[in-house]
Amino acid sequence: MVAASGQDPASRAECACMPPNHAPMKSFGSDNHAGAHADVIAALLQANTGHTPAYGQDPWTEQAQATLRRCFGDCDPYFVFNGTAANVLSLGALLARHESVLCSELSHLNVDECGAPERVLGCKLVPIAHHDGKLVVEDIEKQLVRGGDQHFAQPRVLSIAQPTELGTVYSLAELRELTAFAHARGLLVHMDGARLPNAVVSLDCTLQEIVQGIDVLSLGGTKNGLVFGEAVILLRKDAHEQLKYLRKQAMQLASKSRFIGAQFHALFSGDLWRKNAAHAVAMAKRLEQQVKDVVTVTRPVQANAVFAILPHPAMQRVREQFFFYVWDEHTNEVRWMTSFDTSEQDVDAFAAAIRAATGSV
Ligand SMILES: Cc1ncc(COP(=O)(O)O)c(C=O)c1O
Repeated sequence: MVAASGQDPASRAECACMPPNHAPMKSFGSDNHAGAHADVIAALLQANTGHTPAYGQDPWTEQAQATLRRCFGDCDPYFVFNGTAANVLSLGALLARHESVLCSELSHLNVDECGAPERVLGCKLVPIAHHDGKLVVEDIEKQLVRGGDQHFAQPRVLSIAQPTELGTVYSLAELRELTAFAHARGLLVHMDGARLPNAVVSLDCTLQEIVQGIDVLSLGGTKNGLVFGEAVILLRKDAHEQLKYLRKQAMQLASKSRFIGAQFHALFSGDLWRKNAAHAVAMAKRLEQQVKDVVTVTRPVQANAVFAILPHPAMQRVREQFFFYVWDEHTNEVRWMTSFDTSEQDVDAFAAAIRAATGSV
């Protein structure tokens, strides 16, 4: 089976990677394999005091919402437990049942959410060919047909991931072109920002610049240093009312919401989000620099992932010491992912193992 996926294929070698009673192997498998940042844990402990109202009526949630408004401008943030829920609920805020979502064929939405958008929203996803993970106007345009035809699910939302599942980043100009085109053609735009801080760092822009023209954002927290927690950020006003009901129906309204709020405040009230992202991206670039003469790097390294071809015997050897996923078993394309807690020493040792395994010491 081809493991072309943005998700961690947990069933495969996760147990071998992390045996319960042994020191864990260093992992370049995913930023989900890192723990949480110490400042986030400290914020959780601070929030663990006294009684407070539940279901988002507490001061921690309200403070985090205010923090996100400072970062993103006028918006309504809704906290949820995970990224799949953030994506599904983001779309739910924009879609009617007969409408469809245009997304990349390898988007997390399309291949790694077990059909959750279709199951929960009852909508149709329309997969579109990608170019290193990105969508372009010409391919989207081909799908904009049969408007008003009752036999055809009506395209309503364009969903893009930033960074993409292949670790590439849309430039601000590319984003402006896509959002302008979408809006001109009556589409709303969803951004899957499970790793948005990494894209902001890569583009050296602000959070507000990167979401300009976006209608709803799934904002990741987990991959940037939280224990758990993501947010749906509504950037357009007319979707608000239904989202609060949808979130409850989708079982994503946390009673002790203060613990998600406290984490988001810790991440976004200062520059922790940026520091964590900058480090993860720098570690991916460091890795690329150290191995690019011995393996073929297959995608531009613009965020925190390096994709490369690693012949099978070399793959086996490196995996004796480090954990990572095979992205495509037919082509031997692998994905190496860094996180906020990947150290320079980790990268150097990993690169040395790759060089040794490919016979290029
Ligand atoms: C592009 C992308 N979107 C969303 C998610 C969120 O998924 P989860 O439901 O596992 O938090 C992920 C997780 O790997 C992802 O890579």
